[in-house]
Amino acid sequence: MQYINIANEGVKSLSPYQAGKPIEELERELGITNIIKLASNENPFGFPESAKQAIINQLDQLTRYPDANGFELKAAVSKKFGVQPNQITLGNGSNDLLELLAHTFASECDEIIYSQYAFIVYPLVTKAINAVAREIPAKNWGHDLNAFEAAINDKTKLIFIANPNNPTGNFLTEEEIDAFLEKVPSHIIIVLDEAYTEFTKTEERVDSFGLLQKYPNLIISRSLSKAYGLAGLRIGYAVSNPEIADLLNRVRQPFNCNSLALASAVAVMNDDAFVEKVAENNRLEMQRYEAFCQQYGLEYIPSKGNFITIDFKQVAQPIYDALLREGVIVRPIAGYGMPNHLRISIGLPAENDRLFEALVKVLNLK
Ligand SMILES: Cc1ncc(COP(=O)(O)O)c(C=O)c1O
Repeated sequence: MQYINIANEGVKSLSPYQAGKPIEELERELGITNIIKLASNENPFGFPESAKQAIINQLDQLTRYPDANGFELKAAVSKKFGVQPNQITLGNGSNDLLELLAHTFASECDEIIYSQYAFIVYPLVTKAINAVAREIPAKNWGHDLNAFEAAINDKTKLIFIANPNNPTGNFLTEEEIDAFLEKVPSHIIIVLDEAYTEFTKTEERVDSFGLLQKYPNLIISRSLSKAYGLAGLRIGYAVSNPEIADLLNRVRQPFNCNSLALASAVAVMNDDAFVEKVAENNRLEMQRYEAFCQQYGLEYIPSKGNFITIDFKQVAQPIYDALLREGVIVRPIAGYGMPNHLRISIGLPAENDRLFEALVKVLNLK
């Protein structure tokens, strides 16, 4: 019996998600220590003490189910961003929300629009529900919103936009997004995935919650895995109009967010100083990456995220392998159709120094 034959049609064309290599795996494989991982856009500062304390305080409660409605976290999000708790849906990471959105609004034969080189979970959730993927060719590695508009038809149900985008770091301004939203009919759901928004400068950040007032078909999705440092706990949130939030909350698993994630998320939500420190390190270190690339003539895609993607003008897998032998894990993105690029997450200054040294050695840069 070949079970693939009885799988849902869309699932047959799926490949498993390729995550960044865990440090322990490389330790086992090469028998080396002192490894640094700049592969999964995680937070190099970890998470703040306040979150650790919140987790410790929850430990004795783990025998109970978590709060299915995430009252405290919704209250914290609501207070921080001036939205109402009934506009919020919580997710087991924002990936959970992206999947939830596809399940809630699209089904077989409906069309879902997203960009070439956009976050890989969009094609994954589209295929998993057997919907039709309308992958729009990228413009300078980013979203071509005019081409998105041209692709809209009677079957379009959902549009995914990542801003900034992963793995390219491209960014759309508020004017560009607003102009696009204006043209999309209100029965089509637009998901603005802002997993990396905290890394953009305050003055250029899109006022996406402001746009919600104008566009009832807009959904903002956010992650606590990046700037907030809670990737291992899996927590994210979506903000939308209350009717959409109600629909999402019907489809979601009742206890999709665990107690430790909920408690620690409340703590980091209230820790602006931590997030600001993280973003500031990212800004300064991004400038060092850009200067490094310019010094050695390496072409990179300007990025507003916490990662930079470099074009090595040759198949990058051997460079990735050589970096592993130097104890540095970065991210190959051939699975995105970018075999000559590697994506490097911005680390702490000392980690970035290690990466620079390793690249100079591996590429024999002069
Ligand atoms: C653009 C984008 N959206 C969403 C996510 C999902 O993050 P999480 O599920 O950890 O919140 C990621 C993770 O890499 C991402 O790059």
